[in-house]
Amino acid sequence: MSDALFDHIASLHAGRPYGAVLDAGTGRHSLRWVRSLPTTRWTAVTADPDMRRAVEDDVTDPPRPDDRIVLGDWTDATLLAGEVYDVVLADYLLGAVDGFAPYFQHRLFERLAPHVGGRLYVVGLEPLPDTCVTEAERVVTDIARLRDAVLLLCRERPYREFPLPWVRHHVERAGLRVVSEQRFANRLGHGWIDRQLDMSARRLARLPDAGLTAPMAQWVATLRARAHAACDAHGGLRCGYDHVLAAERA
Ligand SMILES: C[S@@+](CC[C@H](N)C(=O)[O-])C[C@H]1O[C@@H](n2cnc3c(N)ncnc32)[C@H](O)[C@@H]1O
Repeated sequence: MSDALFDHIASLHAGRPYGAVLDAGTGRHSLRWVRSLPTTRWTAVTADPDMRRAVEDDVTDPPRPDDRIVLGDWTDATLLAGEVYDVVLADYLLGAVDGFAPYFQHRLFERLAPHVGGRLYVVGLEPLPDTCVTEAERVVTDIARLRDAVLLLCRERPYREFPLPWVRHHVERAGLRVVSEQRFANRLGHGWIDRQLDMSARRLARLPDAGLTAPMAQWVATLRARAHAACDAHGGLRCGYDHVLAAERA
């Protein structure tokens, strides 16, 4: 499979064996990449029973005895106790922690560090900008704010992203040595627009006051039209950054 961020990790990893890999915040995307690597075994962790089912359904290759999908939470000190992996991948894990273990983010890397035998790779999304200059930035941040507002009104917790210097600080505090960090500019397409707006639209019937549903549905439609127009006009919505950080045992 091809993905710019995983290709970058593969180039950072060049020549090293992958050995045992821990996908510490699994999903179909990251586990497909891990399964495409010459590993000796892998463990995939999720705190979400629906995600466990989704990745279980996605793994169709003949199972190897030591590959496993584990439902668990990193706040549980017994989770994978004593297990050490050549590669630990935290792919969009940090941003999702708020949904499962709020206020645990500052302890995530110290929790993962004992499992890192060789390298830790962190993939994340930089927080979106507060001030916008372009229409692409305005419409992307408007969509993200609408999505998060709807989640909050429906008593769910939105993701909370952290910037690269915050990640580096906490990875170093966890006793690991950062060997590489890089940002990648994002260009968002129709798929991203529709996924975020569909996620909001699906929840409108659950808003706490039925009077909110029609105006919010109108705002979803307005943003969808604006975003698709800007996307077509500029060949994608250039807004925000992903980052990849690599660290190893000091
Ligand atoms: C954004 S999702 C999936 C990202 C994934 N790598 C992919 O391929 O799309 C984040 C994952 O992190 C997991 N996660 C978040 N907080 C967690 C926690 N406290 N303990 C264990 N897993 C957690 C979620 O359950 C989910 O599986």
